[in-house]
Amino acid sequence: MLWLLSVCVVLCRASADVRPNIVIFLADDLGWNDVGFHGSNQIPTPNIDALAYSGIVLQNYYVTHLCTPSRSALMTGKYPIHTGMQHAVIRGKEPRGLPLSEKILPQYLKDLGYKTHLVGKWHLGHYKKEYLPLNRGFDSHIGFWTGKIDLYDHTSMDNETWGFDFRRGFEVADDLFGQYATDIYTKEAVKVVNAHNKSEPLFLMVAHSAMHSGNPYEILRAPEDVINRFSHINDTQRRKYAGMLTKLDESIGEVVESLGKKGLLENTIILFSSDNGGAAAGYNGNAASNYPFKGVKNTLWEGGVRGAALLWSPLIKQQSRVANQTFHLVDWLPTFYSAAGGNTSVFTERNIDGYDLWEALSEDQPSERTNIVHNIDDIWGFASITVDNWKVHKGTNLNGTWDDWYGPGGREGAYDFDLMYKSKSAEAIKTIAKLPDQDKITSLREASTIKCDNSIPITPCKPLEAPCLFDISTDPCERRNMAEEKPEILQELLSELEKVNATAVPPINKEVDPLADPKYWGRVFTNFGDFERLRTPPVKCT
Ligand SMILES: *[C@@H]1O[C@H](CO)[C@@H](O)[C@H](O)[C@H]1NC(C)=O
Ligand SMILES: *[C@@H]1O[C@H](CO)[C@@H](O)[C@H](O)[C@H]1NC(C)=O
Ligand SMILES: *[C@@H]1O[C@H](CO)[C@@H](O)[C@H](O)[C@H]1NC(C)=O
Ligand SMILES: *[C@@H]1O[C@H](CO)[C@@H](O)[C@H](O)[C@H]1NC(C)=O
Ligand SMILES: *[C@@H]1O[C@H](CO)[C@@H](O)[C@H](O)[C@H]1NC(C)=O
Ligand SMILES: *[C@@H]1O[C@H](CO)[C@@H](O)[C@H](O)[C@H]1NC(C)=O
Ligand SMILES: *[C@@H]1O[C@H](CO)[C@@H](O)[C@H](O)[C@H]1NC(C)=O
Repeated sequence: MLWLLSVCVVLCRASADVRPNIVIFLADDLGWNDVGFHGSNQIPTPNIDALAYSGIVLQNYYVTHLCTPSRSALMTGKYPIHTGMQHAVIRGKEPRGLPLSEKILPQYLKDLGYKTHLVGKWHLGHYKKEYLPLNRGFDSHIGFWTGKIDLYDHTSMDNETWGFDFRRGFEVADDLFGQYATDIYTKEAVKVVNAHNKSEPLFLMVAHSAMHSGNPYEILRAPEDVINRFSHINDTQRRKYAGMLTKLDESIGEVVESLGKKGLLENTIILFSSDNGGAAAGYNGNAASNYPFKGVKNTLWEGGVRGAALLWSPLIKQQSRVANQTFHLVDWLPTFYSAAGGNTSVFTERNIDGYDLWEALSEDQPSERTNIVHNIDDIWGFASITVDNWKVHKGTNLNGTWDDWYGPGGREGAYDFDLMYKSKSAEAIKTIAKLPDQDKITSLREASTIKCDNSIPITPCKPLEAPCLFDISTDPCERRNMAEEKPEILQELLSELEKVNATAVPPINKEVDPLADPKYWGRVFTNFGDFERLRTPPVKCT
């Protein structure tokens, strides 16, 4: 009997009751300054904020500069330079995917008994079925395969291609044509939660289309009545952005509410994260804000790689704080695996770059992570790493045309506490935990609002001519290039960069395949690589 009990202590701990549900909300191209908890009052995000205040704000949190590299890092626990995903994104007609030799997050969680669901964007390869979510550890997927879609008609268009891109598993989901994508994701995520068998752990990833811009004919879309709530925002694009963001925020509230009603919330970890920096000031036709950071998506300035994120869970021991632990996307794989009760020694032979930082985050312990490889892209010629508080830039992207500071700051007006306390997220949280009072929230917002020290004169940085060096701890806005002032530190970082560069694998980008054009496939983006036989010349009829 005693023997049986001790077996159960071991086995039962590793099974049902201890494995937390893991829910990831991934926002696309959302800016640092587009969430209320970082200090902007312009576009309320009450549902996201409620999670941040009762969980932890991830203040020193880094993503990568672009969608595909970012998602590959999150899924594999490896920097894109170690999987060949460091250059650009996977294009709709490109025969490329995240290498199948990589085992990814949902597959690891399945080993621990999780049910795994992806709702929304994939963007890690679709040219062959074997690269698609259902063959890479997800039990279900509804959403799209390429980088972005129009939020209503679900087509993806750029100057080379135009095609429908919405799927239910492998099937084309044209029955959903015309429905607002964020609403589809909300409904689907709630359905997954409601149908979930509570005696098994759940992994749900909702990879939103928002805030990515859509197609050129109407680049930012949200329901008219929601956009109209922001008539006080003069900038038309920003007003539409506000509509999209409101829908995103409401979606998160509804999913959190469903987790609460289902009784799952007590044992759930929720991550809300952007995938890369915001597309600001018209970049990609979009209107995000990374204020007061420098740069945009697709650059390695803080505005391109410092992500807006929070972690929420009753399992976090030190809650309601602005967490200063340095964290990178690659850390989620071992961190979640560890929180799920898995033995992280499984990663040793896989050579991942991530650290298990679950205890550091939960208990407010120092983070093992001191260095970050932001990226090395020798094709576009830009690289950046951080070592402790120092950050070096070698080269820059887009010929330096996006190396500026962009607004809006959104600091005008007052924070709407009422809206936050009455949000669906807040209501769900209140049934199991406490939300901090207004004073506490005010101090949390204060602590997570980045302020540029404008008394620091801007010391010119011309990364196309010479590397730049910044002290991020005192100068997060990258205003004072200290390369000349601190030549020995610059040298140290450059040799560290060289060391890291020596471990990089070549990028695996491919030329686009003309046969992939949706015009040959009923105007649908498809797994064109599975149909090689169609390349044989047609038989001549005589
Ligand atoms: C679209 O066309 C422009 C001009 O021809 C070109 O510079 C750009 O790279 C093209 N974009 C894509 C995604 O192919
Ligand atoms: C729920 O999962 C448990 C454990 O896997 C299983 O025994 C049970 O039959 C499942 N219930 C339903 C309704 O599928
Ligand atoms: C918006 O435009 C109106 C009318 O031109 C102007 O009075 C107002 O100051 C503007 N608001 C902002 C925030 O720029
Ligand atoms: C993080 O904050 C703690 C106090 O909460 C402080 O002791 C520590 O030095 C800070 N670490 C960094 C990297 O800022
Ligand atoms: C994790 O796995 C390693 C290697 O199999 C083993 O040596 C170690 O004891 C395990 N740790 C725990 C906590 O089970
Ligand atoms: C890059 O920018 C410089 C000025 O900063 C300009 O002279 C040059 O023509 C640009 N090159 C390209 C390819 O746009
Ligand atoms: C990385 O190494 C490659 C190959 O030696 C070299 O061509 C490239 O310039 C290096 N990149 C950086 C950023 O040092």
